[in-house]
Amino acid sequence: MKKLLITGGAGFIGANFVHYWANEYPEDRLVVLDALTYAGNRNNLAPVEQHEGFRFVSGDILDTALVETLLREESIDTIVHFAAESHVDRSISGPDAFIETNIIGTHSLLKAARQVWITEGRCPVQHRFHHVSTDEVFGSLTPEDPAFTEQTAYAPNSPYSASKAASDFFVRAYHHTYGLNVTTSNCSNNYGPYHFPEKLIPLVILNILHGQSLPIYGDGKNIRDWLYVSDHAYGIDLTLKKGRVGETYNIGGCNEWTNIDIVQLICQLMDTRFAHDDILRRRFPKSPAAGGVASNSLISYVADRAGHDFRYAIDTATANEELGYQPKVSFEQGINLTLDWYLSNEQWWRSVMDGTYQQWIEQQYKVA
Ligand code: NAD
Ligand code: DAU
Repeated sequence: MKKLLITGGAGFIGANFVHYWANEYPEDRLVVLDALTYAGNRNNLAPVEQHEGFRFVSGDILDTALVETLLREESIDTIVHFAAESHVDRSISGPDAFIETNIIGTHSLLKAARQVWITEGRCPVQHRFHHVSTDEVFGSLTPEDPAFTEQTAYAPNSPYSASKAASDFFVRAYHHTYGLNVTTSNCSNNYGPYHFPEKLIPLVILNILHGQSLPIYGDGKNIRDWLYVSDHAYGIDLTLKKGRVGETYNIGGCNEWTNIDIVQLICQLMDTRFAHDDILRRRFPKSPAAGGVASNSLISYVADRAGHDFRYAIDTATANEELGYQPKVSFEQGINLTLDWYLSNEQWWRSVMDGTYQQWIEQQYKVA
């Protein structure tokens, strides 16, 4: 039986990971530590609230004393560290929070783990600190470049990716210097349920429903490698089971799309749903598709993101060979599951789209 501390477990990927783990390993203890920032939502954990081994702690990873107490009183043997500021656009308008949470917060967690697991000698052998990182630390690819491998040199371009790169290096240093058992995964773009609607895919879905413009940065030709979120959880699970301590693993979808193609696809899928569903047309009368007008009429090219990385792509050969990792959910399945989830969970997305968030979104999307 494992005892996990999951930081950022009330956010998008963290919550999906908690659901995955509770389902796969019902005997395990799951302690979620989350500061419930704008991106964290206690309701994301509703499916596991009644789970016997589940505990939620509202708190900050910067609170080293709190983390140490949790590690001791829960006899935690595994930390899975998701907590972060995660949105690139926010890092451009306000980098400080990214330095605070992603760098200092990760270091604070590492200090607590070292204190309890190594200095105090609790759980000395099988402990694991798994750090959830991103492919953005590798910088940007041209269309011809090979995909990122674990050997690709770090070249972060945004304050977000720079803060994640710094945190990756601290994790590495705590292994080499203090002998902490660490692994790191660098993953590509996730999508799926509970994705906060400031990110491209959920933003497009909800803006179609509301008849609001679909902002495409620059020429829309930038490329991302999309992975259904439960496959990220699966990749972390395999890394915990089979990953070599001190190593990093690239996890991705091998599923590259330009932004404009992905937006066009979502428009088409939504149009089809509206065409066959009278209730949907009545629920969302402001959507152009409710009146038989194509959703892509909402597409609007806006000013590009500053320093916008052109392309990310992940080479998953190491994860395939060492961990036996292969994504299980095809993009066709995943995107349809995602649309279904947003259409069935109106209460969830209404509750996260509060006034502050709405104001921030309006500031961001000034049509060019
Ligand atoms: P998210 O923004 O949806 O969730 C972040 C969570 O962390 C929230 O619940 C928030 O309340 C919590 N949090 C923030 N600051 C905290 C603090 N100081 N103390 C405790 N909790 C805090 O993020 P996400 O998209 O779920 O990403 C999770 C992790 O995965 C991040 O580390 C991110 O860098 C990484 N990642 C994300 C993607 C992606 O596509 N979203 C891809 C690769 C890696
Ligand atoms: O690659 C992994 C990263 O993916 C994670 O580390 C980040 O936490 C996560 O937010 C994500 O970063 P991106 O910047 O790639 O995701 P985002 O959804 O913000 O944007 C995806 C692409 O779509 C990107 O090229 C910018 C573009 N975009 C985004 C938004 C929000 C638009 O064209 N219009 C938009 O309104």
